[in-house]
Amino acid sequence: MESTFVILKPNAVQRALVGEITSRFEKRGLRIAALKMVSMNRDLALRLYSEHEGKPFFADLIAFITSGPSVVMVLEAEHAVSIVRSMIGSTDPAVAPPGTIRGDYAVSTGHNMIHASDSIGSARREIEIFFTAGELSDYSLAVKPWL
Ligand code: RTP
Ligand code: MG
Repeated sequence: MESTFVILKPNAVQRALVGEITSRFEKRGLRIAALKMVSMNRDLALRLYSEHEGKPFFADLIAFITSGPSVVMVLEAEHAVSIVRSMIGSTDPAVAPPGTIRGDYAVSTGHNMIHASDSIGSARREIEIFFTAGELSDYSLAVKPWL
């Protein structure tokens, strides 16, 4: 089983889309291993997005992600990283096809609603920033989505 990390960014919370977006993952068959609301401070945001330090959009990115509460979660499935990346769509919502989360709910790259890990290594790093081992629940879904 592979784990990935997702953030429903502050505008997803403000637009009351937490349930709708989370529901897509559940219906697809991803298992929610952890989920909570977090208001990121600057230190947390810098750790999360350290790879983008120095880029022209960096200051706006940090300001936005710290602007209000987000919902963070760990999702599990076989190939969870690539499945969730394909469900969220391209970084720029203008090229994210309808049917993807960014393609359905977003119009700007800076406010593209959602983050998802881009590799197994990133997922491991990001999960450790936001969750302790004790916050991850290991259980089986009563409904087996792969059947
Ligand atoms: P994320 O990390 O949020 O899942 O997004 P991503 O992998 O699709 O895109 P990434 O390249 O990691 O960029 C992180 C976030 O920075 C903002 N961004 N703005 N104005 C721009 O050119 C620009 N490029 C990136 C976006 O909010 C993006 O999600
Ligand atoms: Mg990224």
